[in-house]
Amino acid sequence: MHSLSNYNLRKHLSFGNDVIASEVYKMTHPGELVAILSNIGERDFLILGGGSNVLFLDHQYSSPIILIQSNGIEVKQSYDDYDLVEFAAGENWHQSVLWSIDQGYGGMENLSLIPGLIGAAPIQNIGAYGVELKDILHCVWAMDLDSKTLICLHNSECEFGYRDSVFKRALKGKVIITSIVLKLSKNNHRLNISYGAITSKLEEKKIKNPTPKDISDVIIEIRKSKLPDPKVLGNGGSFFKNPIINNQHFSEIQHSYSEVPNYPAKGTNVKLPAAWLIDQCGWKGKQIGNVGCHQHQALVIVNYGNATGEEIWNHALKVQDSVFKQFRIKLDPEVNLIK
Ligand code: EPU
Repeated sequence: MHSLSNYNLRKHLSFGNDVIASEVYKMTHPGELVAILSNIGERDFLILGGGSNVLFLDHQYSSPIILIQSNGIEVKQSYDDYDLVEFAAGENWHQSVLWSIDQGYGGMENLSLIPGLIGAAPIQNIGAYGVELKDILHCVWAMDLDSKTLICLHNSECEFGYRDSVFKRALKGKVIITSIVLKLSKNNHRLNISYGAITSKLEEKKIKNPTPKDISDVIIEIRKSKLPDPKVLGNGGSFFKNPIINNQHFSEIQHSYSEVPNYPAKGTNVKLPAAWLIDQCGWKGKQIGNVGCHQHQALVIVNYGNATGEEIWNHALKVQDSVFKQFRIKLDPEVNLIK
């Protein structure tokens, strides 16, 4: 068991802020979890993967942290059209996507360049460009903290929703995800190119019958053009979720802003892009001190220098406040806040 004390988490956090953690355990294999958990005892602890969606509000953290660093990718079962492939929780998400494409698999391509590790992907059901993890996930393996045994949760048991799953609700704090198994196609790939930006990029490149690799390449290009690289500019991707409002409220907004982009949601509800709302409030490219809303994507809050977690959160609160004043919509953070 590898433990560290007074360890600066900065290089594990995509916001790139300094956080001194009192007690950190590196988990390189699920077999180590029992010993780590017995050291932690009854105390609350935090699990940290790629640190790409978490914001520590304070510069010190005293509860124990388990850093997930397990590796391994293995084909578990092979069928005519698809394979079931298991990825360890500590594998990097994007490197896993590139691996799958190199092997000739389809399924992960639309989720190219999403930061973070495999183990975090099911928690918020990561999604981009018309595909969500739930569309390719077979099952999740996790350690049940009561019985200290590994359990398997099939896709339907994960209760996936938009940026949501059972791991954020009933199973929060009750399991540690150790690996996921994806169903990846070997032929007859079901490609999703419905998203406008993908279609136009493919047309621009004169690609008529795209392969998973073509789609991945195009998505990498799109994301690189508007989302800042956390290694260069600290950020946690979309800071807020896209809000869902009722039809009446939407009509009122549309009355004043006829061009408001919108997508149908459950029932008669409507989903609005948080980026557009924030942009309308004048935040795009606006920097206050060390923090700002990115110039190409207003929804991404960026650490331009040595911002603390508190400064980043204060900026987010200002953004939230002005969107509420202008649209009567309370934006809900997508980023996990650690107090
Ligand atoms: N827009 C603006 N101003 C901006 C940016 C965008 O008005 O500064 C408008 C765009 O014109 C567009 C709309 O907002 O009409 C939506 O923008 P975009 O297509 O960039 O997507 P998004 O809704 O902001 C979501 C995900 C992203 C994901 C993209 C692509 C959420 C909260 N975010 O962003 O996920 O990559 O779609 O599928 O659902 C993440 O979760 O960290 C993330 C980056």
